[in-house]
Amino acid sequence: MPRSSKSKARRKTSAWYQRHVHDAHVRRARQEGKRSRAAFKLTEILDRFGLELAPDMVVVDLGCAPGSWSQELARRLGPGGIIVGIDLLEVQPIAGVRVIQGDFTEPPVKRELEACLDGRKIDLVVSDMAPEMSGNKVVDQARMMALNEATLDFACRHLREGGNMLLKSFQGEGFDAFRNELMQRFARVRLVKPAASRKTSAEMFLLALDFLPVKR
Ligand SMILES: C[S@@+](CC[C@H](N)C(=O)[O-])C[C@H]1O[C@@H](n2cnc3c(N)ncnc32)[C@H](O)[C@@H]1O
Repeated sequence: MPRSSKSKARRKTSAWYQRHVHDAHVRRARQEGKRSRAAFKLTEILDRFGLELAPDMVVVDLGCAPGSWSQELARRLGPGGIIVGIDLLEVQPIAGVRVIQGDFTEPPVKRELEACLDGRKIDLVVSDMAPEMSGNKVVDQARMMALNEATLDFACRHLREGGNMLLKSFQGEGFDAFRNELMQRFARVRLVKPAASRKTSAEMFLLALDFLPVKR
């Protein structure tokens, strides 16, 4: 077989495999009553890094719609903790989760969140947020990096010392600089590509552990 058709065949097989894995996650999510296959990304990361959720924790899920991460967090946390989910979109109610609709950077949402937190600091911030995609890679990358920066700013204002953050990013322009920035604020930063995340996508998760005290 000429080299080009061999690599074409390999690409085709890989595309088929990716679709197959993707569909398998969709089917499994439906069978298990999860709102989206994104749930498997969170469970894999929490389990792989042994991130236990104590029953009295405060967790904020940024970009929570349709709600599979929040569902999983509520299942792990139990009734003693506080889980707040924020999204631009409407979210069907989730037992044990307070949902705020709006942009997490906007003052009315910030005020509503502060009321939910009732003076408590956050133990864990998770963000599966993605920007509105334009289809232009350069634009979308820049939008994602801006969203990541806003998320880090949010975490710096609300996380307790020793708290953790998990966020989605895109590998590309600005990613390494952002990762370095995280390393200044957290004791450890891990890069994760969960199995449920398509290999062909630039999507990558950053797990930032042990938020450092702010230097004065
Ligand atoms: C991939 S979905 C999240 C899926 C979710 N983790 C789940 O398991 O169901 C990304 C979400 O981020 C939300 N989002 C993007 N930018 C946002 C912002 N500035 N404030 C709040 N939500 C935002 C979008 O509306 C979208 O619903």
